[in-house]
Amino acid sequence: MSELRYDGQVVVVTGAGGGLGKAYCLFFASRGASVVVNDLGGSFKGEGTSTKAADVVVDEIKAAGGKAVANYDSVENGDRIIETAIKNYGRIDILINNAGILRDISFKNMKDQDWDLIIAVHVKGSYKCARAAWPYFRKQKYGRIINTASAAGLFGSFGQTNYSAAKLALVGFTETLAKEGAKYNIHSNVIAPIAASRMTQTVMPPDILENLKPDWVVPLVAVLAHKDSEENGQIFEAGGGHIAKLRWERASGLLLKADDTYTPGAILKKWDQISNFKNAEHPTGVADFLGLLEKSMQLGPNEQGETLDFKGKVALI
Ligand code: NAI
Repeated sequence: MSELRYDGQVVVVTGAGGGLGKAYCLFFASRGASVVVNDLGGSFKGEGTSTKAADVVVDEIKAAGGKAVANYDSVENGDRIIETAIKNYGRIDILINNAGILRDISFKNMKDQDWDLIIAVHVKGSYKCARAAWPYFRKQKYGRIINTASAAGLFGSFGQTNYSAAKLALVGFTETLAKEGAKYNIHSNVIAPIAASRMTQTVMPPDILENLKPDWVVPLVAVLAHKDSEENGQIFEAGGGHIAKLRWERASGLLLKADDTYTPGAILKKWDQISNFKNAEHPTGVADFLGLLEKSMQLGPNEQGETLDFKGKVALI
């Protein structure tokens, strides 16, 4: 099998001055792409700015014979980042929404500023970049978007309500982008990476970090960003050599007739069915849920094979 190449393609990587973003840039440039290296250059908490972060990566790419240009805008001004791609290279093919910051704090002590900044960088930033790239992708009937979620978003993580909310927002964002982009060959996927970076260096022990090189997230992103990839609207986790797809799972569930027997007590009686994943389904769209509702409306009076009589007890249970 020949190596995946990106010759003639233009890749925008946000937050690419270090960590994962830098690793993506070095890879794509080494495989023939022209790269826009975006980084605001602030601290991991989102304070300050500097041109150095992006410049160092551009210099490294150029020194190795690759093509790269720096951009220092915040992702909140994503249109300027995409403009850098268009002005310098005349096109954009791949957008990797990677920029991120942390403002970890227990929910009890969360300030509006901690919340707003996280949402602005992760959610609005990803939106602004994708929104600016979208017309180009549609016109050329081709585009690849990789958004960056996190295990914190998928599963929750102590002290990270703001970050978790933002990261799961990117899953929904990706799933809808995938649906809207499908017919234009615009594929959007979302990854939950884990890697040693300045973001994780204070929260994980050094021996674990040693085994979590950002380079080990790169191959997944490379595959998803490639023009031959059919993956669209999928969630992947990657880190330390592990890669896996994740999906939603719905328990076989409870289907009752939606009439006055549909009481809190009626569902309580069959609670095990609501949470039993033995014959689980894996829904991928709103239609899957609407289909269930239709089924529920068609149920006859005694479809469950028993008489549910909770009249008068509703207030109690
Ligand atoms: P990092 O701190 O090394 O990289 C993030 C980069 O984004 C920094 O260079 C920073 O200057 C840049 N940035 C921050 N705000 C920006 C803005 N407004 N505009 C442009 N650039 C901005 O951290 P790392 O670990 O490489 O993170 C990359 C992405 O992966 C982030 O979205 C992060 O949330 C996500 N992630 C990382 C995990 C890990 O284990 N390292 C775990 C889960 C998610």
